[in-house]
Amino acid sequence: FNILLAASEVVPFAKSGGLADVSGALPKALRAFGHDVRVVMPRYYIVDKEKYGLKALEGSLGVPMGSMAEAWATVYEGVLPGSDVPIYFIEHEGFFGRKGLYDEDGRGYDDNDNRFIFFSKAVMQLAKKLHLKPDVIHVNDWHTAAIPVLLNTTYAFDPDFQYTGSLLTIHNMQHQGKFYKGGMDVLGVGWEHFNADELEEFDGINLLKGGIVHADAINAVSQKYAQEIRTPEFGWGLDRLIDAKAYKLYGILNGIDYEEWSPAVDSFIPATFDLDDLSGKALCKSALQKEFDLPQRDEVPLIGLVGRLVEQKGITLLSAAMDELMKLDIQIVLLGTGEKWAENFFSECTAKYPEKFACYIGYRNDIAHKIEAGSDMFLMPSLFEPCGLNQIYSLRYGTLPIVHATGGLDDTIENYDSVHESGTGFKFYNATPEALIGTVQWAVNTWYQDRSGFEKLQHNAMLKRFNWEEAAQGYEDLYRHIMQGRLKNKE
Ligand code: ADP
Ligand code: GLC
Repeated sequence: FNILLAASEVVPFAKSGGLADVSGALPKALRAFGHDVRVVMPRYYIVDKEKYGLKALEGSLGVPMGSMAEAWATVYEGVLPGSDVPIYFIEHEGFFGRKGLYDEDGRGYDDNDNRFIFFSKAVMQLAKKLHLKPDVIHVNDWHTAAIPVLLNTTYAFDPDFQYTGSLLTIHNMQHQGKFYKGGMDVLGVGWEHFNADELEEFDGINLLKGGIVHADAINAVSQKYAQEIRTPEFGWGLDRLIDAKAYKLYGILNGIDYEEWSPAVDSFIPATFDLDDLSGKALCKSALQKEFDLPQRDEVPLIGLVGRLVEQKGITLLSAAMDELMKLDIQIVLLGTGEKWAENFFSECTAKYPEKFACYIGYRNDIAHKIEAGSDMFLMPSLFEPCGLNQIYSLRYGTLPIVHATGGLDDTIENYDSVHESGTGFKFYNATPEALIGTVQWAVNTWYQDRSGFEKLQHNAMLKRFNWEEAAQGYEDLYRHIMQGRLKNKE
């Protein structure tokens, strides 16, 4: 197939979260199946053209911007490292010549609507310029959700998109791209599409909503999350729409990159290890304790945590549970950035519990690896989690996940059953500090009093695989399905 994947972030060029991991890995897995896959993303300042050997395409790309003046982009071309998958970068000084992807110093850019409407249109114009005639344009989250709308309106009769279908992947339902309705004039698809069944919501524009309505298919990044977003608790106001579109809703669990996240080959960790010999893991643990200035005790259970410090990740539960947790004989190491109050709160915990708690406020991939390798358990108390990658990394490192049973966390972790010695982690079902504390206690008791059970769980966890090949297979099936539907419509 001929697939064009558009995303606002792609590993290794620019990343704020798991969306970048997925848009960097899925195209390579699809390429391995023989498909013609191409990727397109904005060229932010942090994308280093020299480092990645990016070459400018000839001529500039004209992008009509409705009521704004036509914008001209320069397009750069490179490949996804370690593959021959072409990736195009849309460069525009006014829209993307900035430090951040979406925000700076915690403040979102106030022209994010125009920035990503521009990007979405540039993707269409690029496909035309190169005559890609994609079978499917695969878009991700609100940033590119205008593309399915454009396909069905502005470009509906364009010969370059005669047989082009669209897939919208929802990585996170919370962020929908809601803006002042004036964006309609920039989008330029006509005000007749500003209605409650398409782009309008509370007299504003909702780009994700438009994408959900217009895409040929939509999918969430786990089966469980695909079901959850049909309910008010997880739908962020779009649950009824999603439920009405359930006939075209799918769930495809993400994979992870085992070349980067495997204790047997990890170059960031002080000692490698694998299933047959965990002695390297003990070395990683004491090195981690040392790096974080915690007592180097091998008998104490060390709990790791890595992630964006935002409400989604359950940081209010954790902060409420902290004093109780710190009564246990445990250590906690946390890595993350995000909301200021949380950064301050966890920094203060370091002073309050110097023997038991340590954190690094910042974004550091190397430390993330060291925490995965050196911890005994990994905590993810997310209030909601579309897929979640860290718990899957944890499994591979024999670091038992303690998770709130929601979304992808529920789909990827099996609860410990001491009778059958089955499971890969510890789950709690209520998003309350009490449930969190109780489950950490359970995990800690298992560590201290049921070591053989704990080790059996580690064994089970390390054998689990969530490969990209399998996920890519799911996407291939879905693309085929979209193409068949599209072709029928044209006959
Ligand atoms: P989300 O996309 O919601 O942030 P995921 O679990 O899908 O959650 O992906 C998060 C990704 O970002 C993981 O690869 C994780 O290791 C990484 N990450 C998050 N915060 C940090 C941080 N402070 N330092 C290093 N890596 C981080
Ligand atoms: C989002 C979700 C996360 C998911 C990632 C990749 O950022 O919050 O759960 O793993 O996208 O799909």
